[in-house]
Amino acid sequence: MKALVLSGGAGTRLRPITHTSAKQLVPVGNKPILEFGLEAIRDAGITDVGLVVGETGEEIRAHVGDGSHFGLAVTYVHQPQPLGLAHAVLTAADYLGDDDFVMYLGDNLIAGGITAFVDQFRERRPSAQILLARVRDPERFGVAELDAEGNVDRLVEKPPRPRSDLALVGVYLFSHAVLEAARSIEPSARGELEITDAIQWLIDRGYKVHSQVIAGWWKDTGKLYDLLEANRIVLDGYEARVDGTLDADSEVQGRVVVEEGARLSNSFVRGPAIIGRGTRLVNTFVGPYTSIYHSCVVQDSEIEHSVVLEQSSIRDVRRLEDSLIGKQVEVGVSGRKPRAYRLMLGDHSRVGLI
Ligand code: DAU
Repeated sequence: MKALVLSGGAGTRLRPITHTSAKQLVPVGNKPILEFGLEAIRDAGITDVGLVVGETGEEIRAHVGDGSHFGLAVTYVHQPQPLGLAHAVLTAADYLGDDDFVMYLGDNLIAGGITAFVDQFRERRPSAQILLARVRDPERFGVAELDAEGNVDRLVEKPPRPRSDLALVGVYLFSHAVLEAARSIEPSARGELEITDAIQWLIDRGYKVHSQVIAGWWKDTGKLYDLLEANRIVLDGYEARVDGTLDADSEVQGRVVVEEGARLSNSFVRGPAIIGRGTRLVNTFVGPYTSIYHSCVVQDSEIEHSVVLEQSSIRDVRRLEDSLIGKQVEVGVSGRKPRAYRLMLGDHSRVGLI
């Protein structure tokens, strides 16, 4: 059995963070989202991974390499344009051959991994097995309608008026029958070859399609709030560990990870939180559910329930909350007169001033 991990596409909903970089590499709990998926695949006993990449392929290759670091053998599949999930499957047809495979969307996070689902698929051998989760906003997802016996009757991609609250989770198990389905469907109204339509094709022709409603959490990290929530859930699972250094006036409370080379001076961190490699906190308070990635500086500031990416600095900011700060960003107060907000923001940035 192989895995096909989808890391192409454009992260329009996480702009401007993902204008130029891969949304699958945005970290939660200081670990790129994609790594959680790769580890789940390895833990399910699958080592052969096809990684579908597009515009941001270089960055993903630089990070994942040949996969050996994760205990995997990775083959890259270049998808020139993000023309849909079923298009990605077709692009990988040569790589997949006649093998069964698990398709994993690189921006999805799923509690407890995928081992149980993979084992079940291996045992029952349907043509496809999908995972469903109850959500409050089904119109953002592929939505499943079940019949009286609980079998999947209909799948609709992002319906404006969903007829159930069961969303398709971004982990699918397929036999090679899905390739024929993907070849047989037409692009949707949004111009994509939808995997949802390919699975519907299988259902309509009487192929066995199993579904399972998952009880644990699942996050599609495509939007800011989902990302902050995923960060919260991941941090909740961490054990306290201090590998960096604290001066005599610094303290950590609760489940706090201070990574190697991080330095705290006159600072207080209340967990769950993680302070990355080589990051410096000076006269600073870091509150619960905050992840500060490597090589950052936070000075004379307070920050809580936020994610900060690498090499950024935050200085003299009274309080930051619910924020996602990109790479090499500078946030600070300038002493220059006249007193004014001076901003240099990328396209699609959002700023909340008080
Ligand atoms: O997260 C679950 C949802 O994922 C499902 O409920 C939907 O049925 C499914 O269509 C999908 O919806 P999204 O709109 O969230 O998919 P997105 O465009 O964000 O792409 C998901 C991943 O696949 C992401 O890592 C980018 C990658 N991708 C996407 C496309 C369209 C590719 O590699 N190639 C592509 O052509």
